[in-house]
Amino acid sequence: MIERIAALRAELDNITASDKNAVEELRIKYLGKKGLIPALMADFRNVPAESKKEVGRAVNELKEYAQSRISELKESFDSQDNEVSADLDLTRTATPTPCGTRHPLSLVRNEILEIFGSMGFTIAEGPEIEDDWHVFESLNFPPDHPARDMQDTFFIDRENADVLLRTHTSSVQTRTMEHSQPPIRIVCPGRVYRNEAISARAHCFFHQVEGLYIDKNVSFADLEQVLLGFARRMFGPDTRIRLRPSYFPFTEPSAEMDISCHICGGKGCALCKGTGWVEILGCGMVDPNVLRNCGIDPEVYSGYAFGMGVERIANLKYKVKDLRLFSENDVRFLNEFISAH
Ligand code: DAH
Repeated sequence: MIERIAALRAELDNITASDKNAVEELRIKYLGKKGLIPALMADFRNVPAESKKEVGRAVNELKEYAQSRISELKESFDSQDNEVSADLDLTRTATPTPCGTRHPLSLVRNEILEIFGSMGFTIAEGPEIEDDWHVFESLNFPPDHPARDMQDTFFIDRENADVLLRTHTSSVQTRTMEHSQPPIRIVCPGRVYRNEAISARAHCFFHQVEGLYIDKNVSFADLEQVLLGFARRMFGPDTRIRLRPSYFPFTEPSAEMDISCHICGGKGCALCKGTGWVEILGCGMVDPNVLRNCGIDPEVYSGYAFGMGVERIANLKYKVKDLRLFSENDVRFLNEFISAH
């Protein structure tokens, strides 16, 4: 018996296998139900009582040895599975991982800010929850102005008409002028709110960029030049502008600015409704009352202001016809702007 054990041990020292199947065959040969080691164990009952202890230990050791040899062989193949196989092509392009894109409104806002930034305007921001003074009164809105009507403005508290969601970013003009003296040259991006029914053409919130320049001897001609520079960089070097007289409580004189239609070049098309012009912003010379309200002497200083809707510019630039797309977060829409980065 002891000799059979020694012979098997010697065999086990030399076992080799060419693949996993061969290992399995060896396992069956030595340790399987009808294998050599179980057969040895079956013969154990014929061992004389005085040798049982010695033979028993030797058989058990043999079994353990066989198990460890076979798992050793098996592991050598398992680790080979993890190694680079010959047909793996490391030069193949990886599957692209989808990454987020900037929202089209952020793209347009950033572009607006960058253009004005290059002309010396710095960025100023203010709160979305505002008071009547900053949104209306300081900006020369008469007490009965329709913009104060519940139809247009979201009041936070029905009882207290003083706290409201700002309806325009012009409130940041007041906030800035109140705590700084000219020269002031700022652009103010931000979200604004109006009590409007949501449709393709109107929304209860949207985004604006306000501009303000206050200094000595600022004239309407300065305003016109800055806006022309902006329009050309935003819509192309051939863009023309036209200023039409308009009314805003906080500017005098006030104007609305059109750009020559960038789709038809001014000949007339569906976008410009055949006129060759599209409106893009409101502007004017800051009303002396506004300067006075903010502690700036209108006898010494003058200035201009302008305000534009970011959605409006984005609509024109990217031909988005439905305003609601900007806030629905449909990734099919958002992904269209990947190349605009
Ligand atoms: N606040 C105006 C609006 O919401 C836009 C505007 C017009 C701003 C003329 C200005 C301005 O600063 O001078 O429609």
